Amino acid sequence: MRGLLSPSVMCADLLHLADEIEKLDKLGVEYLHIDFMDNKFVPNITFDTNMIRNFKKPMKNIRRDIHIMAFEPQQYFDAMEIDDGDMVSVHYEACDDTHLVLKNIRERGANPCIAISPDTPVDTVKEYLSEVDAVLLMTVYPGFAGQPMAPNSMERLSKLKKIIDESCMDIKIEVDGHVSWDHCGEMRERGADIFVAGSSSVYGRDYPLEEAVERFYTLVK
Ligand code: DX5
Ligand code: ZN
Repeated sequence: MRGLLSPSVMCADLLHLADEIEKLDKLGVEYLHIDFMDNKFVPNITFDTNMIRNFKKPMKNIRRDIHIMAFEPQQYFDAMEIDDGDMVSVHYEACDDTHLVLKNIRERGANPCIAISPDTPVDTVKEYLSEVDAVLLMTVYPGFAGQPMAPNSMERLSKLKKIIDESCMDIKIEVDGHVSWDHCGEMRERGADIFVAGSSSVYGRDYPLEEAVERFYTLVK
């Protein structure tokens, strides 16, 4: 199965978001990566819950891949209208009771995913594997697009893949941050399944969107 693409909408043309979503939908892209930031867990703000709810309107096949960089993320689930078909990533570092938050996502019919920042040991995810459909490995420090890759990201990715293989569970690995043209092939080889493509690839403005998406899929097949 080929690698799955999740373009990071915070890097898209913010003045034409409906067109951007429709274009990605037509191109058969699997996910739209939507970053939500509370300006506390990370020192930045992106889209509010109203925008995240409205992203669904132009969507036909593409699914919301919502990455919540906020403390106690469950407080936003109703406002975001989290439901069937959504993949929802919450940070281990931002939850008082991560088990409860993941359970809440599952009960809404969505796909729970645990996110870990670069300074969190990869082993941390072990106790949550039975409750998630994916692990989001941050390959930059969360909060901003356009950052360099965090140290040891590739080694961490290989270690995470080993942990998941040993669990014998069907859990996907999503990589997020500086997933560049140069790195995405190696990330695929090391076990990544879902690629958050932002300013260092699909939205790097090196190619028209259609060409960039096609190029990405050839690199992560
Ligand atoms: C950063 C976000 C990423 C970011 C990726 O906190 O989670 O999704 O938009 O953008 P690049 O590819 O520029 O790192
Ligand atoms: Zn993200």
